[in-house]
Amino acid sequence: MASDKATVDSAKSMTLTDGASGESIEMQVLQGTVGPEVVDIRKLYGQTGRFTYDPGFVSTASCESAITYIDGDEGVLLYRGYPIDELAENSDFPEVCYLLLYGELPLKAEKDKFVHNITYHSMLHEQLQRFFQGFRRDAHPMAIMCGVVGALSAFYHDSTDINDEHQRMVASHRLIAKMPTIAAMAYKYSIGQPFAYPRNDLTYAEDFLHMMFSVPAEEYKVSPTLAKAMDKIFILHADHEQNASTSTVRLAGSSGANPFACIAAGIACLWGPAHGGANEAVLNMLEEIGSVDRIPEFVNKAKDKDDPFRLFGFGHRVYKNHDPRATVLRKSCHEVLDELGVRDEPLLELAMELERIALEDEYFVEKKLYPNVDFYSGIILRAMGIPTSMFTVLFALARTTGWVAQWNEMIGDPTQKIGRPRQLYTGATQRTYVPVDKR
Ligand code: SDX
Repeated sequence: MASDKATVDSAKSMTLTDGASGESIEMQVLQGTVGPEVVDIRKLYGQTGRFTYDPGFVSTASCESAITYIDGDEGVLLYRGYPIDELAENSDFPEVCYLLLYGELPLKAEKDKFVHNITYHSMLHEQLQRFFQGFRRDAHPMAIMCGVVGALSAFYHDSTDINDEHQRMVASHRLIAKMPTIAAMAYKYSIGQPFAYPRNDLTYAEDFLHMMFSVPAEEYKVSPTLAKAMDKIFILHADHEQNASTSTVRLAGSSGANPFACIAAGIACLWGPAHGGANEAVLNMLEEIGSVDRIPEFVNKAKDKDDPFRLFGFGHRVYKNHDPRATVLRKSCHEVLDELGVRDEPLLELAMELERIALEDEYFVEKKLYPNVDFYSGIILRAMGIPTSMFTVLFALARTTGWVAQWNEMIGDPTQKIGRPRQLYTGATQRTYVPVDKR
């Protein structure tokens, strides 16, 4: 749970005054360790009979958390206080998983034990393979992820008691460990190749690439460059405050649902093209644009209020400056493409020209629409041989760590209660039923 010491009952308060009656209500201002203060409105309805109104939660803090912090104006992202670019440069994904889950960087013995735990949970119950057979071969892998991850609760009953801290951690380790296996199986199923079992002698990222691309017919050598790039992509996608899918996991968890069901709900939410589905949408958009001379046409479509089209990979609810993840990915993009000898990848050149034009356009400048994490990830993943339909699956794989960390933080908070927002009702007032022959 976020430590109470982080929430300072500051001496500050804010007063809300009813313009008609002149009645006022004073609300406490709470201060975190860093970032915007919050106005504690928990007593508002009880004292005024009024709700606050904030569709999309643009100005609403849904919880207290000590896991991730974003400074949208400065383009800063911290995991447990550590800047994302330092972690991407110096750490590895299993260590970042430990950091997000437990709050501190592990000592060597702690890291070895954690890596061993995750490694030895990477296999799936053999019967789960039958779930895949129920899908059409052309099923979107995210549909498979939603179904199979939700079904895990039917196989791992011994880690579904959310009131047992040990079971919560076992479920967390199982989810982190099994997501790469399930993701790779979804891919293998879609191309009609046999599933590859995890290998305990490989690192997390190496094992994922091995399960994705190895075939029984020959030895598969994992490229260290691709494994390093994959590991970095996992780190960059691991957590991100109370984004839509994390909020979904918290809301599902607040009802007491088991962890596997909560993560399946997070996967479903992440799938949307406005959220995690954007990386797949970016690549489809770049392919639709096709050439540099068509960029202005699409930029104008994105600016046209009457056109629902938006430039995928641009804009963010919180970042009003560069998304630091996009900055890291942009650099990695060049390294990976150079290593793979696809430096002149036309989509990369198109993406860089689109970024240049968009960032010079006054609409994008005025609305502070910068490339986000999804803008470059698709280009790297495609260069690595990952099919477009698997991009959001990889996002879900990496974000599972953030989801389980946030879920544990919420369940471990003794003050947490079921999430149940209210509404501004604008429908019909009470009326009497009219039989059909009298309507
Ligand atoms: C992720 O929340 C997270 O942290 C998410 C994420 C994570 O790690 O979990 O960071 C991952 O989801 C990244 C975002 C990926 N989505 C996309 O790339 C899709 C394209 N982006 C947009 O859909 C949009 O920018 C959002 C959804 C990301 C943010 O939407 P907001 O915060 O609700 O902002 P908005 O829609 O109110 O936009 C503000 C203005 C609007 O114009 P006005 O109504 O003020 O005139 O900017 C415009 C929008 O029309 N705008 C865009 C645009 N994004 C916003 N116009 C054109 N192209 C865009 N991409």
